[in-house]
Amino acid sequence: MAGNETIVRIQFDEVVGLAEEIFIACGVGREESHMLSESLARADARGIMSHGVVRVPSYVDQFENGRFSKETRLDAVRETLFSTVLDANNGLGSVASYKSVELTKKKARENGIAFTAVRNSNHYGAAGLWSSMIAEDKDLIGFTSTTSILIVAAPTGAGRAIGSNPISIAVPAEMHPNLCLDISMGNMAQGKIWEYKRLNKPFPDDFWLGPDGEVTTDPNKFALEEYVMIPFGMHKGFGLGVVLEMLTSGLSGGAFHRQYVGFTKEQLPLCHCFGAMRIDAFMDPADYRKNVDEYIDYLHGLPSRHGAAPIMFPGEIEAKVEADAKMNGVKIPSQVLADMRASAVKYGVDTSAYAKFLSAAI
Ligand SMILES: NC(=O)c1ccc[n+]([C@@H]2O[C@H](COP(=O)([O-])OP(=O)(O)OC[C@H]3O[C@@H](n4cnc5c(N)ncnc54)[C@H](O)[C@@H]3O)[C@@H](O)[C@H]2O)c1
Repeated sequence: MAGNETIVRIQFDEVVGLAEEIFIACGVGREESHMLSESLARADARGIMSHGVVRVPSYVDQFENGRFSKETRLDAVRETLFSTVLDANNGLGSVASYKSVELTKKKARENGIAFTAVRNSNHYGAAGLWSSMIAEDKDLIGFTSTTSILIVAAPTGAGRAIGSNPISIAVPAEMHPNLCLDISMGNMAQGKIWEYKRLNKPFPDDFWLGPDGEVTTDPNKFALEEYVMIPFGMHKGFGLGVVLEMLTSGLSGGAFHRQYVGFTKEQLPLCHCFGAMRIDAFMDPADYRKNVDEYIDYLHGLPSRHGAAPIMFPGEIEAKVEADAKMNGVKIPSQVLADMRASAVKYGVDTSAYAKFLSAAI
């Protein structure tokens, strides 16, 4: 992305609509195209652009080369009243996640608590989307994690050991936006390397190893794919990433990262998990949400260090960006629009309904 490119504001439904038309033209079913497009647009609406419609051309390429199954068939491999193991048959991670979230919510409402583990899936995007969907009706606490490409080192390791394995927990509040922690195990997301490369800005110390296993602060010494993430909090992020893999790959019976050695990046079968807990199984939900509000008020009332930003709760940034996107439109870089337009043209999509905002593409 160029440093001086402009940001365009587009209504959420229009972003979803254009992406959806492109995926349909690639041969994906309407409902599945909608789920994929909505998950990408929602990431943009929450300010997580690295997981938004910037990925449309990459999905198009992967549909073209047969990387994913265009149809996401979910087979229940094992099931109880409160648990499900699903095989996603190399379908779309976001479609598997939408359906798993619905199933997990339904079973939790019926039985108090529910957990779903999914294997043979693909990238599901921003983890916070799925935990937020579980908590959005304010009666459930939502949890999710996923495996990802093999990219994070062990604390004293010279090479890749685990994925960035994000975790998200969403907790409903009453007056405030819901709490939603959404973090991965690396010190810095891989996508951010581009920014450092472009600005020729050194990485902070202890964020990245080179392929030689040595710490590097030079963003231009190696290709993007060659950098290895150092885990956040060293043994803490690494340990969390390892146990999360026991809930995703482990409980789904899917592939572990140790089995990824020898796979190409294009062949990685990913695993997810989703959990939901009914709050009224523990206490009155209104009292619970009041406690969450009071906790947020307490955090907001704490003093910042001299000159530092006010204290925020997990998910506050995303909630503010999302509220702004609802009012004023989702922020999309003009280069991203240009890339979507190129995909649309390639597949003969009629873009006349989107002409107004596509004219802003560079
Ligand atoms: N699907 C995948 O394979 C995959 C892999 C890695 C990351 N991701 C996604 O990428 C996104 C970014 O991940 P990340 O690890 O770079 O996250 P990050 O380091 O950007 O941290 C994000 C979290 O920190 C909170 N936060 C940020 N600044 C804060 C502050 N000053 N005070 C309080 N809270 C603050 C945010 O509200 C959010 O909960 C996430 O949505 C994650 O799920 C997905």
